[in-house]
Amino acid sequence: MTRIQINASRNYDVLLEKGILQSAGAQIRKALGLASDPLTGKIKGSKKICIVTDGRVNELYGQHDHPLYQSLRAEGFEVYKFVFLGGEETKTMGTIGQILDFLTEKGFTRSDLLLALGGGIVGDVTGFAASIYLRGIEFIQVPTTLLACVDSSVGGKTGVNLAAGKNLAGAFWQPSLVLFDPLVLKTLSYELLLDGIAETIKAGIIADRLIIETIMRKRNLDDLDFLTSLAGLAIEVKKKVVEEDEHDNGSRQLLNFGHTIAHGIEKLSNYSITHGHAVAIGMKIVSVASDRLGWTIEKCSEPIMDILQRFDFPLDCPYSSWELADAAMADKKRRGDNITIVIPVAIGKCRLKTIPVSSLEQFISYGVNN
Ligand SMILES: NC(=O)c1ccc[n+]([C@@H]2O[C@H](COP(=O)([O-])OP(=O)(O)OC[C@H]3O[C@@H](n4cnc5c(N)ncnc54)[C@H](O)[C@@H]3O)[C@@H](O)[C@H]2O)c1
Repeated sequence: MTRIQINASRNYDVLLEKGILQSAGAQIRKALGLASDPLTGKIKGSKKICIVTDGRVNELYGQHDHPLYQSLRAEGFEVYKFVFLGGEETKTMGTIGQILDFLTEKGFTRSDLLLALGGGIVGDVTGFAASIYLRGIEFIQVPTTLLACVDSSVGGKTGVNLAAGKNLAGAFWQPSLVLFDPLVLKTLSYELLLDGIAETIKAGIIADRLIIETIMRKRNLDDLDFLTSLAGLAIEVKKKVVEEDEHDNGSRQLLNFGHTIAHGIEKLSNYSITHGHAVAIGMKIVSVASDRLGWTIEKCSEPIMDILQRFDFPLDCPYSSWELADAAMADKKRRGDNITIVIPVAIGKCRLKTIPVSSLEQFISYGVNN
């Protein structure tokens, strides 16, 4: 088992192991320090847990006869389930309201908890609901996409989209445990695996050249052991950045490499271009622009485009620099008349650069029109 400890406002473990969902109940009981009744072996007293998931993941991993559900019941958890449709259109305050109403209906108290079973959308929505229900209850992340494993389930950023753009409402709220079972990747489409690969490549570009070298050496996405070790490397990058700057006032912003543009692309495409694919285009645009402006120490755009092209990421941007800059106006990275962008300096090293919002379109145009 791979165990990575995150030391933030709440300390917790990220556990990666094939088949770990079968012992999820026991892992959660241990992480929460819950005493068991010597007679029954089950949790003392009552403890409710609500699995929050989307329709697709519910079919695959949320059923009553699935080992995850069974293991929660076996430990004595009172298990409830809230299923929503999924997709960016449902990552909304409306869904949050429905979850909160469900929890009050079922009598959830401050000592009960939520379990996010799914990709980044389920994780972000569940974490946000947990952060505000009764002013905050604990939650567990059980990521089922590679993207959620390597990125969104760790670090405590939770939230929803608003009409004006992505992730504009939310809270920092750390999970109490992250459980990743690589076997769930078997049901993930190649396109969805690629979304996770894009975030893993991002982690490599911002902080760990070894990730890029590892991916280049071995690109077999059917190999679960390879994907698990890659995920471990990417989570180590996230750990470091989150521990340095949990609330995103400084170095954590490095994780946004490619994201200002990516969020614009997602919104402009009505979310038909997925997050990871949009991040790939965003990383390409920023690296080409940074090279052309002489802001990099070593040329970065060629190796970045090379690795992305090896996975056949479509890198042509269907939007103009004006459209992208306009979409970025609602971005969280904007502070007044300035916006902070993440630029690569070398492979494995990025830095923050604050530019006036008025020059963003020109910057993007250097990357789009190459
Ligand atoms: N909080 C953070 O730090 C952070 C970081 C990166 C991304 N995000 C967010 O994550 C979201 C994207 O996450 P995502 O790509 O996981 O998308 P997602 O949650 O929509 O999942 C993608 C699709 O895969 C399906 N799915 C999930 N697991 C599956 C499995 N094992 N087998 C088959 N199908 C499965 C889902 O039902 C869904 O249709 C975006 O909203 C993005 O903003 C958040």
